[in-house]
Amino acid sequence: MQCQHYELGLAGADTAFSVDPSAVTFGAGCLVEAGDIARSLGITRIALFTDAVLATTEHVAKVMTSLKEANVDVALYDEVRVEPTDMSFRAASKFAADAKVDGYISVGGGSVIDTAKAANLYSTYPAEFLAYVNAPIGLGQPVPGPLRPHIACPTTSGTGSECTGIAVFDLLDMRAKTGIASKMLRPTRALVDPDCTLTLPSSVVASSGFDVLSHAVESYTARQYTRRPAPDSPSQRPSSQGANPWSDLGCAEALRLLGLYLERAVADASDVEARHQLMWASTLAGIAFGNAGCHAPHGMSYSVSGLCETFQPAGYPDHTPMVPHGMSVIVNSPSVFRNTASGAPERHLDGARWLGADVSGAGPEDAGNILADHLVALMQATDMPNGLEGVGYSADDVGALVDGSINQRRLLDNAPMTIDREELEAMYTGALRYW
Ligand SMILES: [Fe+2]
Repeated sequence: MQCQHYELGLAGADTAFSVDPSAVTFGAGCLVEAGDIARSLGITRIALFTDAVLATTEHVAKVMTSLKEANVDVALYDEVRVEPTDMSFRAASKFAADAKVDGYISVGGGSVIDTAKAANLYSTYPAEFLAYVNAPIGLGQPVPGPLRPHIACPTTSGTGSECTGIAVFDLLDMRAKTGIASKMLRPTRALVDPDCTLTLPSSVVASSGFDVLSHAVESYTARQYTRRPAPDSPSQRPSSQGANPWSDLGCAEALRLLGLYLERAVADASDVEARHQLMWASTLAGIAFGNAGCHAPHGMSYSVSGLCETFQPAGYPDHTPMVPHGMSVIVNSPSVFRNTASGAPERHLDGARWLGADVSGAGPEDAGNILADHLVALMQATDMPNGLEGVGYSADDVGALVDGSINQRRLLDNAPMTIDREELEAMYTGALRYW
């Protein structure tokens, strides 16, 4: 099959892609379906994962009521740490093992969903913590088999974690963000209620919206699946398999929706249409990057968030300094796309056009700048930080930022060009300030 201009037949490269669909229920108010879904999955005692703030919200109350009405026993774990660590993953895994549950439900952002994935994994297949963690930081051992059912209920329009097999955390000893990636970690069902986003502060909507935007552009511009080395066996084909005709569909529609609704959703919390559409874009982009993989903006984001010492964003709980995930990504994205466009110029131009940029008369050599300039204008319109300097870094930090991301090979090798130390330095330097 020659489709979507994918080149086939390259020596040693893969010739097929896998569609690993997420089972999604999407709709305003659908959190009340949690109990019925749990019963249909055969769950009789469920671990409900959330964080201390969300535990007091109507979202958790709705889910709890629904589970109880369906006669599902609930073991509540409301100690999920925002920006989880190996320590917090271990604590959650111990809770899960002790609670003797036969299923999981997570209600929250990416931190909550990722923690439930890890707890499900380590309580089902106990192992040394680094066993399943991505190489070269961990041993990268395959997950031995299926996990217990997991219903993931995102409360922000950004994470996409409800549709992916990835769990991200900070490894405290190394001050590095890394993750566990396996198709087995993908939640059994995503239960996506866009009403959850109606009470979010605009800064949270902006940050998570740019996470969605970068998921979609990165998945669409990722190294094509026909250029990735073929796996030793088909079952070892990674979920970060590169851009493919299936993920392209979700990316295109997510970017079209973001072009229409991102600014509106940030500017006006009462704009229900915009906030609902953003949640749908987030779901589509989650399905896409769960089947294609992100690349350099996400790979570079890990050290941007991991090395943060001073930045405290508006709209987030006022405790330790942090760069929210979406911000840590989007501060890199324009600089990255200026560089990676040479590897897939038409795809960078497609992304810009779907977001609403004027690409008339543009040639391949213009693609990176057109996309980057459009992103920068969107960042300015939504009060995003002005590049790395906007979240507390300077040119003196570029070396440390490179050191902190050079080992993110799963992501960096998914870019449409080779990314070495020199390239990373150039991309971080280009991301210092945009206006
Ligand atoms: Fe992300």
